[in-house]
Amino acid sequence: MTFPAGFLWGTATSSHQVEGDNRNNDWWAWEQEPGRIYGGQSSGLACDHYRRYLEDIELMAALGYNAYRFSLEWSRIEPEPGHFSVAALDHYGQVLEALRARGIEPVVTLHHFTLPLWLARAGGFLNPEAVERFDRYAREVAAALGREVRYWVTINEPMVLATQSYLLGLWPPGHQNLFETLRVARHLLLAHARAYHRLKEVNGEAMVGLAKHLRVVDPGRPGLLDRGVAGLLDYVFNWAFLSGVERGRLPLPFGFNQRVPELLQTQDFLGVNYYSRDIVFFNWRSPGTLFAKMEVAAGRERNDLGWEVYPEGLYRLLKRLQAYGKPILITENGITTGDDLARQRFLLDHLRQVKRALEEGVEVRGYFYWSLLDNFEWAEGYRARFGLVEVDFATQKRSPRPSAHLYGEMARKNGF
Ligand code: GAL
Repeated sequence: MTFPAGFLWGTATSSHQVEGDNRNNDWWAWEQEPGRIYGGQSSGLACDHYRRYLEDIELMAALGYNAYRFSLEWSRIEPEPGHFSVAALDHYGQVLEALRARGIEPVVTLHHFTLPLWLARAGGFLNPEAVERFDRYAREVAAALGREVRYWVTINEPMVLATQSYLLGLWPPGHQNLFETLRVARHLLLAHARAYHRLKEVNGEAMVGLAKHLRVVDPGRPGLLDRGVAGLLDYVFNWAFLSGVERGRLPLPFGFNQRVPELLQTQDFLGVNYYSRDIVFFNWRSPGTLFAKMEVAAGRERNDLGWEVYPEGLYRLLKRLQAYGKPILITENGITTGDDLARQRFLLDHLRQVKRALEEGVEVRGYFYWSLLDNFEWAEGYRARFGLVEVDFATQKRSPRPSAHLYGEMARKNGF
């Protein structure tokens, strides 16, 4: 199986999950509260990637990967409102240089779940002012790094952020309120639009998009009720945000379909993070989740967190994205497992589905395995092991798993 010339074979990480010592953001504060993180863990030094980035980039190069998606830590770049750290911006400039020097294409995310503490204290994305704050941050980043980067992701998984933090209460600030969730989604749409224009002002050639978590949502039973809630959930969680961006409107239920001209067509590529599928049943006792009850398909392979492994779902979603007529990057796809053979199978099975979509004309330009390294998996702490490279958190020793080499072989051959 040969992939198109120039296909990006990358891995992905995010600042808070790998850098270590990010003490000035909302997650750090959250981790200190009892009961928030599995086993009472906290991110701590994580993979110490802020200091060890060169070693990690050399490892990627040695393994043969030609792309790397990472995120900038807003709380390092803007530790106090309006005060931008030259040192932090320089640091990321050096990361970019190190990647370029080894022929690794960077894909840079502006916002991957964490907020500077000062902004979290002001209400985070619940506060409409966050849109202005994000605009200012994007402007500074664009001025410092905008010319060095071709692929930008403004916001990682806006709907995951909104639901985990404001609907399910599992992430900071731990609210459980549907109206707040919709409001946050609305502000994230507006923030995305601002950042898009800031990045394009500096470099019109840049490819700017967002990383949208997409899940396959299938009805539990063929009847109207399950099909109805599945359709509703699919629309609200998967497609409403993207449709807002495409049409330049605040879509229902995030708004009332008002026009927002500056939002129109603010994505040059579609970024998709794909992990799993939900089987959905109508349940009148779950108004907070739009009367949907989610289950995991029975009798199928699962990862260590219990999510179904469903490679064909990636193909199904890519086919739906084809309608947008834009290039696609698979900005995340991965498995947490203690069994590296399962990880190798996962890679082969998912990339086969990507190839299948490519053959049917879907313009996929790259694939980013989540993650390069074992890292801090949010509320699940360090028990989840997504890495191609195993990390011993006591010594910071990196040990590439067989899957890391398999993936490198695919990258080198541009296929398998
Ligand atoms: C995504 C998220 C990543 C990572 C991954 C694995 O939703 O963007 O930060 O945690 O899931 O669960």
